[in-house]
Order: sequence, then C-alpha cells, then structure tokens
Amino acid sequence: DADSIAYARSLIRTIADYPKPGVQFRDITPLLADGQAMQTVAEALISQANSEFDVVAGVEARGFIFAGAAAAVCGRGMVPIRKQGKLPMPAHRLAYDKEYGHDALEVSPELEAGMRVLLIDDILATGGTLKAGAELMRLAGAELASIGVVMELQGLGGRTVVPETKALFSL
Ligand code: PRP
Ligand code: MG
Repeated sequence: DADSIAYARSLIRTIADYPKPGVQFRDITPLLADGQAMQTVAEALISQANSEFDVVAGVEARGFIFAGAAAAVCGRGMVPIRKQGKLPMPAHRLAYDKEYGHDALEVSPELEAGMRVLLIDDILATGGTLKAGAELMRLAGAELASIGVVMELQGLGGRTVVPETKALFSL
C-alpha cells in the first residue's frame, strides 16, 4: 500500500557529488537491508506490472536485485541483462549511453523469441539504460509486457526516451 511504499522510499539515501561532482546519487543500500521494504518493493513490482509475462529480466547490476526478488515472489524465472563481457554465451548485444558514461548490454539464449518479459531496473534517470534494455529484448524477439522501476527521476525526462512508454511504471 501507499504507506509501505512511502516507508521504502524513506530508506533511499541521497549522496551529493557521487560518483562525480554534480550527480545526486540515490543510494538504495538502506532499502536493501530492510526486510519489510524489500518485500514491499518486490510485491509492488509484480502487482503493478501487466500480469501476462513469462520471465523477469533485470539490468546489471542494481536491476538484478529487484528482478530476482520479483521473480521469486511470482514464481517466474529471471534472465540477467549483463554488461558486455560478463556472459560466457551472449546471444545478443546492444550499445547504450547512460547518465555518466557508456556501455553495452548482453543477454544469454535463455531469453527466447516470443517470451513475454517484465523488464526491471532500480532507477530511470536519463533512460539510456532501459532504452537499451528494451531494444535488446526486441532484438532477441521477446515481447515487453511491462517495464518497472523502483524510482523515476522525473526531472531528467527518461520516460520520453524509453520506446515502450505505455508499458512503463515506477513505484
Ligand atoms: C544506474 C542505475 C540504472 C541507470 C539509470 O546504473 O542502476 O541502471 O544508472 O540511468 P539512465 O536512466 O541514465 O541510464 P549504472 O550502470 O550506473 O550502475 P549499476 O551497475 O550499479 O547498476
Ligand atoms: Mg544500473
């Protein structure tokens, strides 16, 4: 409920000028350390998503935490979307830009064409990461059922960058 979400939100700490001057870093570690908040977030990611999905995908690194928790809550599998060079058997790759740098994402062949995916990350900032994640899902022939994030930094306009804006929700 709204009170539980507000409680989880109160556990996100802001660190100024990390990792670079001018960046306000949203530190989720206090939220992760709290069992009640973790349960609230995992359940809310499932309850707010379109229920028609086969698998949960999470973006390295912080997206893994919430995607894994959400997958366990609903009894679906989890597919990691990893940064380039970490998967022994990458099936697809997509380059992207983020708030402070650039990288590429890869996924393994367990993400099969035709699968309906709930795509999860911790935070939507400029939208570069989730845009790439969504495009990677498409490249694999999967279908995006929903895109869920724990936090959305509304001032950065990331929502307009993500291709499947209709499917996007934030807690
Ligand atoms: C952070 C965050 C999101 C992304 C959001 O990831 O976890 O994935 O930035 O920014 P964007 O909307 O501007 O793309 P980052 O790659 O910095 O680090 P992580 O490996 O700790 O998740
Ligand atoms: Mg990340």
